[in-house]
Amino acid sequence: MQIKSVGVIGCGLMGSGIAQAAATAGFPVIVLEAEQRFLDRGFTGVERSLAKFAEKGTITESPDAIRARLKGTTNVEDLADCDIIIEAILENVPEKHKMYAALEKVAKPDAIFASNTSSISITELMAATKRPERFIGLHFFNPVPLMKLVEVIRTIATSDEVFEAAVDFGTKLGKVPVRTKDSSGFIVNRLLVPYLLDAIRAYEEGVGSIVDIDQAMKLGCGYPMGPFTLLDFVGLDTCYYITHVMFDEFREKRFAAPPLLKRMVLAGWYGRKTGKGFYDYTDPNNPIAN
Ligand code: 3HC
Repeated sequence: MQIKSVGVIGCGLMGSGIAQAAATAGFPVIVLEAEQRFLDRGFTGVERSLAKFAEKGTITESPDAIRARLKGTTNVEDLADCDIIIEAILENVPEKHKMYAALEKVAKPDAIFASNTSSISITELMAATKRPERFIGLHFFNPVPLMKLVEVIRTIATSDEVFEAAVDFGTKLGKVPVRTKDSSGFIVNRLLVPYLLDAIRAYEEGVGSIVDIDQAMKLGCGYPMGPFTLLDFVGLDTCYYITHVMFDEFREKRFAAPPLLKRMVLAGWYGRKTGKGFYDYTDPNNPIAN
């Protein structure tokens, strides 16, 4: 099975990053969005990122040559010839089902469908399509152009051939693929989410300040970001959503959202994207936040 062309659904942070990785690897890529302005915003981010890589000499082609392989569309029919279609829209099951139903009508019968979901069951998404054996999870990490990992997720219905083609595709994107099964949170969020939630609980219990807990994990464990910096980076709304899906699956306290996380999300403090989370990103005197 040869993957020669790539479709991406959604041109947000994850979708645009996946599209950039695929175009950089030499694939022609077409990205579907609801409106042209979302494509423009996503592609502006890609251009900025490619310029940074060119400045550092970490790409072998010119940014223009890579960018030329990226096309945007607002018409789902333009994805008819793609060999793999990776969905990276908002984490909402009915919306994703609607998208897969539309794709099913236009995609080639042998196209592989993939979802970049971080916690929704791949099997639940697959059930909205007529190609259970050709449906997988491909979970990338933020920021996609820099993060080396992709989790390749199989359901009980995924064929061996499709799974191995997806693993091979992950390698071609310059990522290190890890194989995992359809269990909520897969490998990374299964371990990362309880750790992040424990950091919030430790703070609630007065074990240390936000800055001290972050410093402790950065300098004591060699993590690139402390837990609160990472929570703000991922988005508290996203983390809160993931905890719900994981708690619903496992019914274990370690996956339950601490009260402070719930209240911050209710207050609209989502982290970097809203300017306020555990840190204030509007405060020019805050070195961690800027
Ligand atoms: N494209 C190109 N270059 C980029 C970039 C991008 N998208 N984003 C950042 N860079 C560049 C910066 O411009 C900077 O360049 P410089 O050295 O010339 O200044 C360089 O990369 C390093 O960035 P920073 O100086 O801002 O900071 P760091 O050295 O800390 O690196 C990081 C940034 C790679 C994000 C690092 O902090 C990191 O690895 N953090 C952890 C990220 C992480 O854990 N992500 C996973 C989140 S969980 C997830 O996504 C799953 C989901 O399901 C929740």
